[in-house]
Amino acid sequence: MRDVPRAIKSDATRNERRGRRVTHRRVDVHVVVVVHVVVVVGFVVVVVVAGTMRAGGGVAQTSTSTSTTVRVELGAKAQKATGDAKKMPPKESFWRVHKEELRELVPYLWPAGEPLLRVMFAASVVFLLASKAANVIAPIALKTAVDRISRGDGRYLTPIVVYGGIRFGVSLCSELKDNCFAYVAAHASRKISLRVFTHVMDLSLRFHINRKTGAVIRACARGSESFANLLRYISFQVAPIFLEVGLVCAYLFSQYEWYFAVITASVIVTYIGFTVPFTEWRNKFRREMTVADDAFNQKATDSLLNFETIKLFCAEPHIGETYDAALRKTQQATLKTQRSLAGLNLGQALIIAFGISASLALAAKRVISGDMTVGDFVLVNTYILQLYVPLNFLGTYYRMIKQCMVDVESMFKLLKEEKDIKDEPGAKDLVLKSKEDARMEFDDVVFAYNPKERLILNRVSFTVDPGTKVALVGRSGAGKSTISKLLYRLYDIQGGVIRIAGQDVKHCTQRSIRLHIGIVPQDCVLFNESIEYNIGFGKIGTGEIATKEEVSTAAEHAQFDEFVKRQPLGYDTLVGERGLRLSGGEKQRVAIARALLKNPPIMVYDEATSSLDTHTEKQIMMAINFAAQGRTNLVIAHRLSTVMDSDQILVLKEGEIVERGDHVALHAKEGGLYRDMWDQQLNSRSSKEDRVASAATLNAF
Ligand SMILES: Nc1ncnc2c1ncn2[C@@H]1O[C@H](COP(=O)(O)OP(=O)(O)OP(=O)(O)O)[C@@H](O)[C@H]1O
Ligand SMILES: [Mg+2]
Repeated sequence: MRDVPRAIKSDATRNERRGRRVTHRRVDVHVVVVVHVVVVVGFVVVVVVAGTMRAGGGVAQTSTSTSTTVRVELGAKAQKATGDAKKMPPKESFWRVHKEELRELVPYLWPAGEPLLRVMFAASVVFLLASKAANVIAPIALKTAVDRISRGDGRYLTPIVVYGGIRFGVSLCSELKDNCFAYVAAHASRKISLRVFTHVMDLSLRFHINRKTGAVIRACARGSESFANLLRYISFQVAPIFLEVGLVCAYLFSQYEWYFAVITASVIVTYIGFTVPFTEWRNKFRREMTVADDAFNQKATDSLLNFETIKLFCAEPHIGETYDAALRKTQQATLKTQRSLAGLNLGQALIIAFGISASLALAAKRVISGDMTVGDFVLVNTYILQLYVPLNFLGTYYRMIKQCMVDVESMFKLLKEEKDIKDEPGAKDLVLKSKEDARMEFDDVVFAYNPKERLILNRVSFTVDPGTKVALVGRSGAGKSTISKLLYRLYDIQGGVIRIAGQDVKHCTQRSIRLHIGIVPQDCVLFNESIEYNIGFGKIGTGEIATKEEVSTAAEHAQFDEFVKRQPLGYDTLVGERGLRLSGGEKQRVAIARALLKNPPIMVYDEATSSLDTHTEKQIMMAINFAAQGRTNLVIAHRLSTVMDSDQILVLKEGEIVERGDHVALHAKEGGLYRDMWDQQLNSRSSKEDRVASAATLNAF
């Protein structure tokens, strides 16, 4: 590197150059003026075009952000309503809207308590700087080689080898930088994923009932990936482009005529001035494409899921047509995106071509006049080409950063979601010394899912003593399952008190309450895992893993072991998604086994035998009665024959307990709701055998 421009030039040469500069200045100045006029006119045209796109496109002004889109749409509606455009709120810049997300990135770049990751980040910055510096030095080595070759100097091999070495060094530093940063990015992605996932799992039932599973999964998965990508794009893709531009312009300015640096900088400004608004404008086509693509995928999924219905109604041709319509929309949107991409690429290429031609024309002129060597000419060309390569990706990075920001925003929206059932500050654990303590009381409980809507429970009071079985019966929608949800404190009540062992559940931690209650839910959903995993899940809250023996004993008590033994894989049999490979009755027995394994002092059975035939139901009732011993039991049932042996039966009607007592007392009440329901069930039993069996049971009481 002996002959970097300044180093090799003697004072005499410099003076000579200065003299020549004066001679050629007038010609150069003309060229420079023309170049600048064209650059400025180009820039103005770009700005005007961008302005037109913004004003005319409407949507083009919006970012890819859903929230911004919504804001703009709402803004447009408001404008219509008032008829006054001036009242439109000023559009906030995309970056200001997302400043919070940007601020959140910083701690993940420099993670506290992770010295190794900090070292990795520092190393990646060092490698980045080294690769950029090498990128600036490499053309100088090339210039030296070209100069020596053009002078017929035989010492050209050294700079060529140095040039090759530096080029390899650029790639090496770049790979090392990416690898070091990969640790930081992977850690950030994992941490943010975990943070979002645990937050979502911690949210209350109300959130989970209203959520759209697909959207939540997408927000979590895309959000965490985009979060890491944002770190990468901003720190290691976009920022270095500007760093390199700065370095090259500074070098050109210090070593050559000022206008090389100015042209390079102007072309880059024009390039960015063109790329950013054009990309914004293109976003509407991309959005159209995404919407069309989502709709097409939705159609395909829906058709596949409903293939049976389609076959039953001979709807294949109709489905084919709707599928084709969705495909056509996707196709049109893709074509628009492709056309606009071509426009973007051509515009960028034009600006770059202009920059290269202008710089090279000026450089050529100076080579001919002897102010620059052929090596300088090659150097200017290499610098410009080298700069424009990453610039080509600027539009893509810009769009990707915005897209990532949108994904991260949806993920952060989840993080901001508040729990509506919170443990009180200093809430204590529910304490149950023994199963005999587990008295459960509802005292004047008033509840509505939405306080502005109808009451679901109206002043409901009852007590379930330890070792007893209380049944809740009533027509569908009366509020039976709601009572079990309140007991679990999945919702807070608006009036009254719910006590377990004399302790108000409102003042107890939710976890401690749930650990003391077992439930066989009305709709039993299973994990897509083995039978063993699903039954063993009952014990997971205690932090222990159930043994095979415990699982099989629970299955035995739930009358499920025979079924399992008949399966080739036994307890390793997979139950399918949501347990769909099991029948309704089999799923219920898994749920019973799971609740029995939990072995809680309080048990709630919500329609635990609703999917079973009479024979299996009897067996399960025996199992339930066995498990009920010594516990506090709340049984919800439609089929009254399953609860007639309860210590107390509560008849719920539209959120109020209208009758209570044991079976004999309630049945004796002519015209009562219970008696009415009993008679109806007796008459609706289809088989004669069933009617005889039911009548016999009734007579036994
Ligand atoms: N999450 C919810 N948000 C709003 N309303 C709800 C919610 N869950 C249930 N409801 C309403 O509350 C009422 C009582 O529901 P609940 O599930 O307690 O009835 P149920 O007595 O168990 O009925 P079934 O015998 O059919 O299971 C119903 O009218 C139902 O529509
Ligand atoms: Mg129910």
